[in-house]
Amino acid sequence: MTSSLATLVGSDLGIGIGLRTTHYETILEERPAVDFFEILSENYMHTGGRPVRVLDEIAAHYAIVMHGVSMNIGSTDPLDRDYLRQLKALQQRCGARWISDHICWTGVEGKNLHDLLPLPYTKGALRHLIERVRAVQDILEQPLVLENPSTYLQFAGPDYTEPEFLSELATATGCGLLMDVNNVFVCASNHDFDAEGYLRGVPWDHVVYFHLAGHTTYETHRLDTHDGPVCDEVWDLYRIAHELSGGRSTLLEWDADIPDFQAVHDEARKALRHRDPKSTVTDVVAASGSAGAPR
Ligand SMILES: [Fe+2]
Repeated sequence: MTSSLATLVGSDLGIGIGLRTTHYETILEERPAVDFFEILSENYMHTGGRPVRVLDEIAAHYAIVMHGVSMNIGSTDPLDRDYLRQLKALQQRCGARWISDHICWTGVEGKNLHDLLPLPYTKGALRHLIERVRAVQDILEQPLVLENPSTYLQFAGPDYTEPEFLSELATATGCGLLMDVNNVFVCASNHDFDAEGYLRGVPWDHVVYFHLAGHTTYETHRLDTHDGPVCDEVWDLYRIAHELSGGRSTLLEWDADIPDFQAVHDEARKALRHRDPKSTVTDVVAASGSAGAPR
């Protein structure tokens, strides 16, 4: 494998934000001091046009990581080997440090349902996922990084809690994990479990990076909408997760009602304050020399 899990887990890139088209001009013209960008892999596949040219320019100056939504790792459909080869080619083009996707299924019998659908946390599903993650890692020649999903239903009769399922999967395959702290909070609220207890069960030696995001609260549930700032409860959980992990790269996702680049970056940089509550953001940035983001 080109990068070991230990290398990925030990690569604290700092504080990053999701690369979105609405910010292209600001990034290209002003080259703001961002530690790293996460790209949505599918936005740069099947295209030879402007998106890829912009990515080439941004990747020349910033660290990049890849995040996808179409691997369909939990499905019973055969793995899409052509998609996986294209992922690898995109990584080679932009020098992405790692490739991530979600623990979910997105379609079956060739139909893409365009949603991240939950898996039952059963022994059978675990065996199925282990086999497929191993196959993907053989093709990608590196550890795959998988994210805990936001879910809105639970299956009856699970054999594992989600942290137990993640631990079994990670131990068996050597895969990496992407711990989305907002997703933990959304699920804990929707399914009435203790979010801090969840975090204490996470296999931290497999966690490569964190996601943070905003969500929407409805009367009956919370929805993972990525359309606003991170709420106080998620920042509290992030501080606990940071302590438990010893520190990991942290990425803010903002996908709807996206404000200007500076507002998104300012929200992401709040993570510095929550990592070390005694310091101001300015202090921490100055101490870490986090100005600019050479690859
Ligand atoms: Fe996420």
